[in-house]
Amino acid sequence: MATLITGASSGIGAEFACQLAARGDDLILVARRSEKLDELAAALREHHGVGVITIQADLAREGAASEPWADIAARGLTIDTLINNAGFGTSGDVADDDPSRLEREVQLNCGTLTALATHAAADMKRRGAGTIINLASIGGFQPVPHMAVYAATKAYVLSFTEALWAELRPYGVRVLAVCPGPTRTEFFDTAGENAAVGRVRSVESLVAGALRALRGSEPSWVQGLDNKLVTRGVVRVVPKRLVLAVGGRAVRPVTDGPD
Ligand SMILES: NC(=O)c1ccc[n+]([C@@H]2O[C@H](COP(=O)([O-])OP(=O)(O)OC[C@H]3O[C@@H](n4cnc5c(N)ncnc54)[C@H](OP(=O)(O)O)[C@@H]3O)[C@@H](O)[C@H]2O)c1
Repeated sequence: MATLITGASSGIGAEFACQLAARGDDLILVARRSEKLDELAAALREHHGVGVITIQADLAREGAASEPWADIAARGLTIDTLINNAGFGTSGDVADDDPSRLEREVQLNCGTLTALATHAAADMKRRGAGTIINLASIGGFQPVPHMAVYAATKAYVLSFTEALWAELRPYGVRVLAVCPGPTRTEFFDTAGENAAVGRVRSVESLVAGALRALRGSEPSWVQGLDNKLVTRGVVRVVPKRLVLAVGGRAVRPVTDGPD
């Protein structure tokens, strides 16, 4: 039995690896930067005595899930917990963006996540056990101008995960959408600093909170009362035009837009 974590070379994925190794999980870590994965794997083996395998893969390519999944099957390993964490965001206007970059964003955040969850769901349903955690975001609860594609991918993850929760619950498989607010990671190196709207929290508190939420029975978990109030309350009752205006102003790049 092993826990598979995508995007484990930094940020939230690396912290999941640390907290799960500390409780004795054997791990399979996937990302592109193999040297970072190997460094983390060596530290976790030394400190916690767990087994750690690393797989280098670019998960933003179409069909990217099949290779690591086949690799895992060939090693005879069973995935007990899947943490679909790899993802990135882009800020800026769609009209000014590179279509192939947005395509990769959709493939990684939605396509590969879905394929891996589907492989895992089939095995877990058959075994009547297992856990799937998908990383959504508070950005998935409403459209976000200037981060349109990122927010849309996270709306997909949230919707997909909550439906999967209902499908697999009768078979004893636990599914959870984790919805972080801004969290201190390398995410903003790629998405841009303006994407951090509101209080920025630590990866340690995010992952500890997500693992606590896993012990409950809800299909999704939003970190922090402030974020819960906005996502579960405000955006549902405030008119859409106002949500779009406020959300768009919050993430708008300072140098962007007409004079
Ligand atoms: N930080 C936040 O404020 C925040 C808020 C809400 C949701 N989230 C979500 O949390 C998840 C983790 O993000 P993070 O904050 O921890 O950011 P991060 O530090 O930038 O980590 C992203 C991880 O994804 C991996 N990744 C990116 N592109 C990849 C690709 N093409 N193939 C394979 N792996 C890839 C990266 O590894 P390599 O570069 O080595 O491939 C890295 O390990 C994402 O899904 C993100 O959308 C983050």
